[in-house]
Amino acid sequence: PFIKFVDARGGVMVVEAATGSTVMEAAVRNSVSAIVGECGGACACATCHVYVDEAWQNAVGEPDPMEEDMLDFALDVRPNSRLSCQIRIRDDLDGLVVHTPARQA
Ligand code: FES
Repeated sequence: PFIKFVDARGGVMVVEAATGSTVMEAAVRNSVSAIVGECGGACACATCHVYVDEAWQNAVGEPDPMEEDMLDFALDVRPNSRLSCQIRIRDDLDGLVVHTPARQA
């Protein structure tokens, strides 16, 4: 599946992600600079914060309680905020669009 990252200045990067991996892993592997992923995907850092595009919010779903708690540490949290290490890639997420924040926590 392909994922499109749109940065805070409108720059677009499309990367191919493996099914079963996470959006954070796909970003780090492809050097999407706005995603840090400091804790390696353990839901313990909030440096993989993204905004899920409106059109994809239903498909991606809501954060679980542990992720909600960690999102408190992210900057400029919005209703469509997610930690990208907690978004697992499925085939039906092909074409997913996520927006990256101007800075990470
Ligand atoms: Fe640390 Fe996602 S990589 S919370």
